[in-house]
Amino acid sequence: MNNDAIGVFDSGLGGLTAVKELNRILPHENIIYFGDTARIPYGTRSRETVLRYAQEDIAFLRRHPVKMIIAACGTVSSMLGAQVPVEDMPFTGVVYPAAAAACAATRNGRIGIIGTPATIRSGSYEHAMHTIDSHVGVTAMACPLFVHLVEYGYTDRQDKITRLAAEEYLEPIRNAGADTLILGCTHYPIIRDIIADVMGEGVTLISAGEETAKYAKTCLEEQALLSDRTEPGHNVYYVSDSVSQFRDNARNFLEDAARGQVFSTRI
Ligand code: DGL
Repeated sequence: MNNDAIGVFDSGLGGLTAVKELNRILPHENIIYFGDTARIPYGTRSRETVLRYAQEDIAFLRRHPVKMIIAACGTVSSMLGAQVPVEDMPFTGVVYPAAAAACAATRNGRIGIIGTPATIRSGSYEHAMHTIDSHVGVTAMACPLFVHLVEYGYTDRQDKITRLAAEEYLEPIRNAGADTLILGCTHYPIIRDIIADVMGEGVTLISAGEETAKYAKTCLEEQALLSDRTEPGHNVYYVSDSVSQFRDNARNFLEDAARGQVFSTRI
């Protein structure tokens, strides 16, 4: 048993999609979240830069009482590959949990993956899936506009601009006959309905954040690190840009976050 918090970080607020799932499946855990809102996006930057930022984000979380660290960011997780940046406590990115869930979900062995340009360039998800099942066929597409469309609020199911972008980006994955699609970036669950409409019925969507939350629960259980608290846990948020900007945008990702305790910090 351990009542320290779960540390979660992301390039910005997108990682709140993972926090939402953590709160749902581990309601008694405290969460300390760091969103690097001053330096988002990571998804268009070089591997070296993303890794440097990730080290700083992790160092920030480690200054708090945390028992596990989750890189909720698809781009960070992809740049890390097999590297484990923390050795004295459980650590996970989002790639392996999502890849494992997709391999388990596919019926025809054809899986699509969408993410930021850096994520797709890295081949991280393909690599993870081929390690799990060498027979799956993978079609990968970078969707650079999606993060911006979500950040600027073009998220309504009927939104014409986002729908057009989704049709364009998802066409090769539809043509490949994928029956499973990994949403390999924090922001994509917010436009899940549009992606589902464009992909059509019968396609399973895998949210990397949601699968990672389930995986984190298994890790904590296996290592006997779950909290024994009986009252609900609470979340504390840190951001590298302003608190007011967090409050304006957080409700797109997690309604409760907009009302939570938020601090602006330098890292
Ligand atoms: N958090 C990033 C990811 O999941 C998306 C936003 C960014 O580009 O930093 O890849």
